[in-house]
Parts: sequence; C-alpha cells; structure tokens
Amino acid sequence: MSSKNAFLTFEGSDKAIPLNIVSGSDGPDTLDITSLYKEAGVFTYDPGFLSTASCNSSITYIDGDKGILRYRGYPIEQLAEQSSFLEVAHLLMYGELPKKTELNDFSNIITRHTMINESLLRFFEGFHYDAHPMAMVIGVVGSLSAFYHDSTDIKNPRHREISAHRLISKMPTIAAAAYKHNRGEPVIYPRNDLSYAGNLLHMMMATPCEDYVIDPLAEKALDLLFILHADHEQNASTSTMRLAGSSGSNPFACVAAGASSLWGPAHGGANEAVLNMLKEIGHASNVEKYIAKAKDKDDPFRLMGFGHRVYKNYDPRAKIIREVCYEVLNKLADANNPLFELAMNLEEQAVSDDYFVEKNLYPNVDYYSGIIYRALGIPESMFTVMFAIARTAGWVSHWMEMLDDPRHRIGRPRQLYQGAAIRDYVPLEQRA
Ligand code: SDX
Repeated sequence: MSSKNAFLTFEGSDKAIPLNIVSGSDGPDTLDITSLYKEAGVFTYDPGFLSTASCNSSITYIDGDKGILRYRGYPIEQLAEQSSFLEVAHLLMYGELPKKTELNDFSNIITRHTMINESLLRFFEGFHYDAHPMAMVIGVVGSLSAFYHDSTDIKNPRHREISAHRLISKMPTIAAAAYKHNRGEPVIYPRNDLSYAGNLLHMMMATPCEDYVIDPLAEKALDLLFILHADHEQNASTSTMRLAGSSGSNPFACVAAGASSLWGPAHGGANEAVLNMLKEIGHASNVEKYIAKAKDKDDPFRLMGFGHRVYKNYDPRAKIIREVCYEVLNKLADANNPLFELAMNLEEQAVSDDYFVEKNLYPNVDYYSGIIYRALGIPESMFTVMFAIARTAGWVSHWMEMLDDPRHRIGRPRQLYQGAAIRDYVPLEQRA
C-alpha cells in the first residue's frame, strides 16, 4: 500500500498534524487516523460509517458509482455466468479459483459436513410451528458452538478453517429444518449425491411420502442467487461478523450475530419486504400513488429493494437477477407472473422519476430476488434465510481474513458524548 501525507490544522494553532494517506490496490485512498486522538485529542465523527474504512480487505471490491462488484478481482458478471457457488465460496475463502482437484476436494468436504447433530434437531421442537425461520436459524446456528469443542480455538488456523467449512455446510440443513418445522413436516436429511443448491431444494421440498425431482433450472437459478449474495464488502452484517469476531468469539456465535443484523428490513430483510410491498401495491394502477408515498418525507413508506449505501447506479446483481427472472418465470412458473409485471412497472416508473434520479436510487439485489424464490416455491419468510445461507461464505471469509492478520485488535469505536454534565445523586425522597 503506497502512502503520502495530508496535514490537519486547527484554527488558532499553527500546528499541522501529518496524517498518512494510504492507497489500496483499487478504490478511494484512506486517511490513516489511528494516531489522531493521540496527536490532536479529537475523534472523527461518522455515524453510519459513510466515510469510514473499518479495515483493510482483499476479498471484495465495489465501485458504487460505476456499479462494479468483484470477488477477489473477478467481475460478478463473469462469476455469475461461469462459476458455481461452491467455487465462489472457495475463491472468497482462499483468494484463488480452485484447480479441478481443489474444487473436488472442497466440494467433498462441504458435502460431508452437511448433517447436524441429532440433538440439534430437537431444538426446533421448542419453537412454535409459526416461528419466523430466521429466528430459528439464528438460534440454532449460534448453538452449534455447543457441539464443536474440538475446534473452537480461534487462534488455530486449522480450527478456523474447519469451523468455516462446517458453517457453509450446515446452514442449508438448519434452514431446511426450520422450513420443515414451519410446515409441520418431518426433516429431510441431506444427501451426498446432490449439489449444494440441489440438496437444499431436496431438504425443503421432498417428503417421506414421495421423492422430489430437482428441476435443473431451479437448481441453477438458486446456485446463481447464492453466487450473487455470497459477499459484499463491509456491509452491516459482515461488519457485525467482524466486530463480534474481533473479541475472540467463536465463529458460530459470530454468524448468529451477522445473521441477526442481516434480518433487518434495511439490509437482507428487504427481499421479504419487497414481496410484501408488491402485494400491498397490488396493481399497476397503484404504482403512482406508492411512488408518491415513497417521496413524501412525512410518509415512512419506502420503496423496498431500492437504494443502496454504496451503489449510486444500478446494483450489478439486480441486473443479473432480473434477467434470471425472465428465464425462470418463462420456464418454471407463469410467464405473466403479475408480481413480476408489477415489479418491472414499478422499476420503470421509479427510475425515470426525478426524485429517484436525483437521489441515485436504483433497484438493489433484493428487488427481484424474492420473485425468483417464490417461483421456486420458496415462501417469503424464507427469503432472508436464503440470503444468510449464501452470505455465510462471505462472513466466514472476512472472519478468517481478520484473524489471519496478526495486527488485528478488538473493535471498540468511541462516541461524541452529548449527555448530562457531572451532577450529584438526589435521594428519592428529595426528588420532586
Ligand atoms: C442490502 O450494504 C450492503 O452492501 C447491503 C447489501 C449486501 O449485499 O450486503 O447490498 C444488501 O442490504 C441491500 C439494501 C436493501 N435495503 C432496502 O432495499 C431497503 C430500502 N432502502 C433503504 O432503506 C436505503 O436505501 C438503504 C438502507 C439501502 C441505504 O440507506 P442510506 O445509505 O443510509 O441512505 P438514506 O437512508 O440516507 O437515503 C438517502 C436518501 C434519503 O432522502 P433524504 O433524507 O436525503 O432526503 O434517499 C432516500 C432517503 O429518504 N431513500 C429512499 C429510499 N432509500 C433511500 N426513498 C425512498 N425509497 C427508498 N428505498
């Protein structure tokens, strides 16, 4: 990383504090302020981290103005077209596309860790049948640490790798078990002869009474959605994973924390919120009214699936998913899917509206993904679970990258204090 200096001066002082400008391999330079408090006795103030780099990373690069997304330097468009989710998971974890034998070994490892301890299956009995599957997944994935005392030494790289494999392997099994609990159906065990996406579809859709024939198009569409959702730089849930991991917490607890952050409707919960929004809008004749609501400062309504902290252009993933929507709906479900028609109508009207143009609000990854999930027979309540399955690959990769760096420290931000000045305790009987 090359570096040059910036100088910070304060009115009334002729002291110029040198701050290193550190350049990465791509994207904006960073101002290294690690010595700022010591040198100047001030903090920086950046709630929401709009201008703050929380770490250095080599995993994913995003250029929000140009709509660029690359995993380890590979453009998402090429990975979507030519790769598979397990190959992308290997790329994110290890930094390189695997050779044939490496991919085969990695796929075998992931496949052979898909079962969960039978005791974990009893955890689901404690939930009401209508518990939200994200609540069940978060509870159960956090409990995995109770079963792996043999590999929770996070200082041991091999333990970190085994835990990362287990998490990528078991998330679909836990997700499918949550789905089956919602349906009151028995759990379907993973099968080692199926692909990662095919196994999940089978665990969700098969029943003991009849087998489930996996549609290759559904399998390919789900695998593609997993590629597109696998990682996205320092988003809220990945930052949560890193912060939780920085204190030395075990990776299972960290993924539960990351998934908890992802669940929010401003983040990964948006895909479920988009479908609920489209159902609320109901018909193209209502689109104008809802766009007006989204623009009204006094109305809390927002166009879910629109806008992004980083992308001030089309989210490249949204473009790819929209194309897959056409293919899946034409072949798998009803070609004139009313919700898809409505989504395209809403997109067309919103992206040509001055309010959205001025604020650079375009469809994001969550806008169309739910329409495909529904076409695959996956209910809204499972949409964020799908997101969490895919993002586990990114979460564990960032967690490993952080812990591989011997310089890493516990994350502990400071604050701008605006509370009461010092004051003495007033005994109860003296309070008015
Ligand atoms: C994901 O960070 C990531 O990388 C996330 C993600 C990933 O892969 O990990 O890409 C996945 O989370 C995608 C985002 C999914 N969320 C939604 O679709 C929810 C709807 N969108 C928003 O709530 C919002 O756009 C955010 C949360 C995505 C971004 O919020 P910011 O960056 O804090 O922007 P903001 O809320 O300050 O909005 C800027 C302006 C505001 O108007 P002003 O106060 O400047 O007048 O744009 C307006 C907002 O009111 N605005 C919207 C809007 N999103 C922003 N107005 C209407 N509809 C919207 N969707």
